[in-house]
Amino acid sequence: MKLWGGRFTKSAEEWVDAFGASIPFDQELVHEDIEGSLAHVSMLEYCNILTTEEASTIKKGLETLKEKAEQGELEYSVENEDIHLNLEKLLTDEIGPIGGKLHTGRSRNDQIATDMHLYLKKHTLEIMDNIKQLQQALLGQAEKHVETIIPGYTHLQRAQPVSFAHHLMAYFWMLERDYTRLEDSLKRLNVSPLGAGALAGTTFPIDREYAADLLGFDGVYDNSLDAVSDRDFILEFMSASSMVMMHLSRFSEELILWSSQEFNFVELDDTFATGSSIMPQKKNPDMAELVRGKTGRVYGNFVSLLTLLKGLPLAYNKDMQEDKEGMFDTVTTLEGSLKIFSGMIETMNVNTGVMEKETHSDFSNATELADYLAAKGLPFREAHEVVGKLVLQCIEKGIYLLDLSLEEYQTASPLFEEDIYEVLKPSTVVGRRNSAGGTGFEQVRSAIKKAQQKVQEK
Ligand code: ARG
Repeated sequence: MKLWGGRFTKSAEEWVDAFGASIPFDQELVHEDIEGSLAHVSMLEYCNILTTEEASTIKKGLETLKEKAEQGELEYSVENEDIHLNLEKLLTDEIGPIGGKLHTGRSRNDQIATDMHLYLKKHTLEIMDNIKQLQQALLGQAEKHVETIIPGYTHLQRAQPVSFAHHLMAYFWMLERDYTRLEDSLKRLNVSPLGAGALAGTTFPIDREYAADLLGFDGVYDNSLDAVSDRDFILEFMSASSMVMMHLSRFSEELILWSSQEFNFVELDDTFATGSSIMPQKKNPDMAELVRGKTGRVYGNFVSLLTLLKGLPLAYNKDMQEDKEGMFDTVTTLEGSLKIFSGMIETMNVNTGVMEKETHSDFSNATELADYLAAKGLPFREAHEVVGKLVLQCIEKGIYLLDLSLEEYQTASPLFEEDIYEVLKPSTVVGRRNSAGGTGFEQVRSAIKKAQQKVQEK
């Protein structure tokens, strides 16, 4: 007999029940569901809707279920559809029919919404912490590599050399925005739907604020229809998560490129790489590739939920049961990817020698040369032309700008003097870019300091 079986004369076949059931996945919410129920009972007692004796019997029963859940001893059934009905059934098995009083003034609709809020609050905080750890890992590497210079790229063509720390810190600031986005979402997430009932509130003299307070919420939803049908808080989380993954995916792409033989800028630690079953020489950046790959499912979960909600009339509709698996999956993917990344960055070996050599084998100091002429009064456009010709001359000879003789320089423009050789050194090129937010060493050092402060405040 179903818990709601009163108005039914026939029961569904097992396979139909299985199609409608959410217990295979919403058992993930067992702790949140019990926590929500405990607060609900306390509130019912506080409002004299249940006697103290009734409330304490129910609470004891719930505590027993909690322990059993922790031991993995609860047995769920598909016949009882979801985590809410399963727990109610297990509770009455435990304490008798009085367990049936738990659901007074409550519906599964406000119950599930409450569970999801509790779950997502916990995991948003965890993910924020994971972001912080990754930021710390980045800071650790950045501190060591302020004066390590790598080619900087636009269009994946060598552009201007930059401090490796500056490059790494770009990801720090992306993650900082991600962190604050999640932090901001907590304001809207930390509101209690409990007490909204099925959709219209209840006739019982409940105190929603009281229960909300027990659950650590900052307040309650103002509208009962909105409370049970709102899933914006999950969408906000998924949208912020999509951006986190987009950032990690771009970073992955760079790590993968950098670990290739062609770049050879970094070597990922053995503990974050894998071999090939056939090619003995291989060391593959699998973890970075996986993070890049997993970005797809996080976007997918976001778009799925948006699509799920777009045509739904108020208030609760069973369609909304489909909101859970994507949310769980996004949480698991984010937590996993961020942890992997922290480890990968912390243990990454930086091939400073290769970077150094590479910054001497390109034309990424060409802008500096044009700036040099412009600083001496030549209109920048003309300076650009002069240097462009010099680059062409080098390409024809198979040399770089530092290899041209002073005579060749002065033939191109009498403004060139001996000091150009110092000016053209990658370390000078980088070191002098001290405009705010630039790659100059002073700028990078002060950016790192500012970033450390941000992390310490968390
Ligand atoms: N298992 C349901 C879900 O996840 C819980 C809410 C069900 N409410 C209802 N009236 N069928 O959405």
